[in-house]
Amino acid sequence: MANVVVIGAQWGDEGKGKVTDLLSRSADVVVRYQGGVNAGHTVVVKGQTFKLHLIPSGILYPDTKCIIGSGTVIDPAVLIEELDQIEALGISTKNLLISETAHVTMPYHRLIDKASEERRGNQKIGTTGRGIGPTYADKSERTGIRVLDLIEKEALQQQLNWTINYKNVILEKLYNLPPLDPTVVIEQYQAYAERLRPHVVDSSLKIYEAIEEKRNILFEGAQGTLLDLDHGTYPYVTSSNPVAGGACVGAGVGPTMIDRVIGVAKAYTTRVGEGPFPTELEGTLGELLCARGAEFGTTTGRRRRCGWFDSVIGRYAVRINGIDCLAITKLDVLDTLEEIKVCLAYEIDGERCDHFPSSSRKFSRCLPIYKTLPGWQQSTSECRTLEDLPSQALDYLKFLAELMAVPIALVSLGASREQTIIVEDPIHGPKRALLDSNHVPLIS
Ligand code: IMP
Repeated sequence: MANVVVIGAQWGDEGKGKVTDLLSRSADVVVRYQGGVNAGHTVVVKGQTFKLHLIPSGILYPDTKCIIGSGTVIDPAVLIEELDQIEALGISTKNLLISETAHVTMPYHRLIDKASEERRGNQKIGTTGRGIGPTYADKSERTGIRVLDLIEKEALQQQLNWTINYKNVILEKLYNLPPLDPTVVIEQYQAYAERLRPHVVDSSLKIYEAIEEKRNILFEGAQGTLLDLDHGTYPYVTSSNPVAGGACVGAGVGPTMIDRVIGVAKAYTTRVGEGPFPTELEGTLGELLCARGAEFGTTTGRRRRCGWFDSVIGRYAVRINGIDCLAITKLDVLDTLEEIKVCLAYEIDGERCDHFPSSSRKFSRCLPIYKTLPGWQQSTSECRTLEDLPSQALDYLKFLAELMAVPIALVSLGASREQTIIVEDPIHGPKRALLDSNHVPLIS
């Protein structure tokens, strides 16, 4: 039995979907603990491709329970669309459980998200426009609608009447937008409630029961460490806590119940939206990584900004999340390069800095100090063991593991499940904190 948290060690889109899909095979329960329909992963089932934003891909395994936890925000229209897609394939969704204390994204959240971004002008964050920030803001303001309110007809009516009138003032006076009709929204959301009701549960209790039954639980983070509201590149962040600690709050479990943290990082770096990105590559190399890595967002279709691997960020992610081992994804994207750079540290205002700065203003002045490594210039997509890898690719991985002082347990070399090298068991390997100081944190 092991309870494992999988997190993104960069700015999201690290390929967590593939890693959690692989690990879901040995999980009895998969819990999504934060975020909303801003996240997205592409799943191919029975030759058909579709995009999931909220439902963990573990739903495709017949015996795996999937829980959308308390720390998430749920857009019911999108969730129902996902349920419809899955059911249309003949796959049962009876194993999907929705937390009664998750918050619900309403039409005014989307409208305010888009309008406030526009109002920000060149200060914009580059949000996905899915209403995520305003939903979490209402949660903190204590004007949010929770799933348990959604499924109680009278409570919903009462709360929405009050809230929509309040939001209409903001929509009309602040953003010059037409008001919403409470009756229409209430009717629409009552219909959503009927569809979702059979899935609604006390999720932290279900998770606790699974822990007591010694089930394997996989806690799945969305986005990544640098998009964390508290520990990311504020204000260019999302409104929840993708870091491993967020799993405890968002799922409602104590830290003593987490056995292991797996960090997922790409062999290079990407980010979508605004904000500083020291190792960003503009021009041909950036284009090449974007094209070879198909770096376009699942949710918004936006082109992702691409750059070299940044080990300052990597070490920061190891520290903030307590990462035990790493999964390095998309190594094959680097296959054609003659040389590959890795950022070792930054120079800020003429001084060397080995640590991630908390200030985004300072971060925007960071100049990367690089080490250049030779590329391998051959395809790795068919490699299935470390021995199959060209020596330069192996050296590259060893270098990353050394820089971050964490073993690499898994290497991904393409989208399919087979295009993976399992170096050591990512779930049952040793806990990093328990390794003695003589442990050489290489990849095997
Ligand atoms: P929001 O989460 O829509 O409020 O967007 C806030 C920031 O997080 C923006 O820079 C988005 O591009 C980024 N973001 C949100 N979700 C994802 C994701 O799943 N992958 C990568 N970036 C994301």
